[in-house]
Amino acid sequence: MSHLIPLSRVARLVGQPRRVLQEMIRNDTLATFDGLVELDELLRAFPDVKWDDDAEIRRVNEIKDKAFAKRVRERALPDKDVLVARLNEMGDDYAAVKALLKHYGNVMTWLDEKIDEMDEGASMETHHALHSVRAFLLRNLAELPPDAVQAQAVVAQERILKIMAPNVTIQPSGHEFFVEGNDTLLEAALRNGVSLGYGCSNGNCGECKARVVSGEVKKVHAHDYVLKQAEKDAGVILLCSYAPVNDVVIESSVAGARDIPVQQLTARVKSVEIFNEQMAALHILTPRSQRLRFLGGQSIQLSINGISGRYAIASCPCEDRHIEVQIPRRAEDAFAEAVFNTLKPNDPVMVEGPFGEFVLDEDSPRPVIFLAFGAGFAPIKSLIQHAMSLEFAESMDLHWLADAAGHYQDNLCRAWTDALDNFNYVPHAPTGDLETLLKNIVVDYPDMHRFDVYAAGTAFQLERAHEHFVREGLHGSRWFASVLAD
Ligand code: FES
Repeated sequence: MSHLIPLSRVARLVGQPRRVLQEMIRNDTLATFDGLVELDELLRAFPDVKWDDDAEIRRVNEIKDKAFAKRVRERALPDKDVLVARLNEMGDDYAAVKALLKHYGNVMTWLDEKIDEMDEGASMETHHALHSVRAFLLRNLAELPPDAVQAQAVVAQERILKIMAPNVTIQPSGHEFFVEGNDTLLEAALRNGVSLGYGCSNGNCGECKARVVSGEVKKVHAHDYVLKQAEKDAGVILLCSYAPVNDVVIESSVAGARDIPVQQLTARVKSVEIFNEQMAALHILTPRSQRLRFLGGQSIQLSINGISGRYAIASCPCEDRHIEVQIPRRAEDAFAEAVFNTLKPNDPVMVEGPFGEFVLDEDSPRPVIFLAFGAGFAPIKSLIQHAMSLEFAESMDLHWLADAAGHYQDNLCRAWTDALDNFNYVPHAPTGDLETLLKNIVVDYPDMHRFDVYAAGTAFQLERAHEHFVREGLHGSRWFASVLAD
């Protein structure tokens, strides 16, 4: 009986990022069937994995936790009704397997009797042949071969993962993520950087409607919005009110920068982080009932007591209600002065946004170069964290060309390098010779035509960089830029 496992779960079982497995599929070293991997194929492709030891997976997760220190990670158990439904499903599987084994046992008894019947009056030659068949069957039934023991260990681990974190596939975009803890489908999507449509996030507006294509879901929050009977019959649910019982496929559209409306809300200051004389980060929390929808790389307008400023968001949309903006200290920026001098935890801040289209091209499978000039690190940081949560690119190189504020989050960039084997960080010290610096960067990419480049800096810096990268072979349409104020 074949046992098929979704690719995302295989990635967890073998402790490898999904893109590594996708590369194996492209190289024909791992066979899949509709995005699923057969158990025997998994054991063949990863002969060295110790299936009964998840220490390596835990180690990698711990490093990632450190690198994403501000990321909210939910450790809670699933909702109890959902957990019961998942355990019931596993109980049904267990009962089906037990019934099948019983049936096989009956067949074996029948075979045994049949062999006795055939043996009566048989020739010596037939007698020996029947004796060999019986001995073969008894020997193989008596003990499991080593590969069956391994298969048992994989299935046991996969079952636990399936109960604790069912897999969700979004159609038609193909995004995949796991639902952990007591998250709803919407919460899990947002936590994984997948920008599904929603409004109130608490069952009132109907904007998170989506269709369940396959799999089973369970309502975990009551909702006031009333679905029509025809919608219910078609499998439509509210993503903010349902959690998956098992692996599910959901039909829902993923929002681009232009699909997200400008929102207005009042957030509260969580903390002000002064990096140095020139640079600070403002951490704000949106209300529980009103999150801000945005994509990595976008910006927002912030206002306090009649003074305002527009700044790039420096955090990932996957960070729930937490938003970080980085604020350079500039002459005549009254908002920045307030951040450096007077703002304190719990102060209200008016937020409007998001603005801008400096976002990831999620359809591009290309390797990525991120180029941050000075404070341009803020939108680049947001893009990188968003890309990490989406397991977005084949490889990511960050070049940070510092200004007087320096590499004020150097440790964070180094932690990303430790946590991810496809991330490379190259800090560049402040220099007056921009041309030489850019020339030295592009020369390391003789295959520049393969890359996407995301750059944030002043108009002058971006213009100079664009010229160097395109001259080295970058396709014009693969250049994405965000212009900072001088
Ligand atoms: S987001 Fe409003 S009903 Fe789900």
